[in-house]
Amino acid sequence: MEIKYYLKLSSTNFEAKKLAKTGATAWTVIVAERQLSGYGKNKRFWFSPKGGLYFSVILPKFTLANLQILTFATGIAVVKVLRENLKIKATLKWPNDVLIFAPKSQGDFGGHKNYKKVAGILVENIIGKDVKVSIVGVGLNTNIGKFPKELAKIATSIKKETKREVDNKKILILILKKLKRILKMNDEKIMKEYRKYESTLGRKIEVLMRGRKLSAKALDFDRKGNLLVKLEKGGLIKILEGDLKYEF
Ligand code: BTN
Repeated sequence: MEIKYYLKLSSTNFEAKKLAKTGATAWTVIVAERQLSGYGKNKRFWFSPKGGLYFSVILPKFTLANLQILTFATGIAVVKVLRENLKIKATLKWPNDVLIFAPKSQGDFGGHKNYKKVAGILVENIIGKDVKVSIVGVGLNTNIGKFPKELAKIATSIKKETKREVDNKKILILILKKLKRILKMNDEKIMKEYRKYESTLGRKIEVLMRGRKLSAKALDFDRKGNLLVKLEKGGLIKILEGDLKYEF
């Protein structure tokens, strides 16, 4: 494992993709103290001031039939470190949001009462003629003291909720070690682990799909981690991607 530290980058995912294209080896890790143009799902801006932990990992070229599993594996690694090493109540909102118990800042992430987003995971794949590289980026709000007003409603940090500062480098190593171990498991085992830490199943949800809002209940995951939902108006559908909002 090679860890490259930068004081600032536009985006660690962007840098990792650049390095992967020029032949960087698997388990090269790019870390930046801050990002100027960090991004998340759907190219959404990712708030990346100094204090947080921002990193991207070039993953080995194992041909995973199901790339979605990488998001889950990383989510499990982050939640396990938060729970086991930092004793923080953390949970996964399908597919890629890491939430923490945030009563102090009146948490309510997508209807998930008392919880706010503390980390996000973004997997990007480069698919060339015969090369396939996957990059996983993690943004974890560790020692961030303040968020812009709009963001403060949905996001929080470990520092804000626990009044503690953590050692970003230590947390990074712990997450990487866990991730390495989890990626040795097969898809089925990873999904079994994922179920232990997720809190989407059983909830009433609102699914935003191709511009349409559908009321439903989250029923189950399939082997690949797609979400099976029961629509209120009747019928079962499988969701591969989409934003969820919980209802109660
Ligand atoms: C999301 O929740 O939508 C995913 C957010 C992922 C943010 C991380 S920060 C490190 C890496 N570099 C980026 O530009 N994005 C990811």
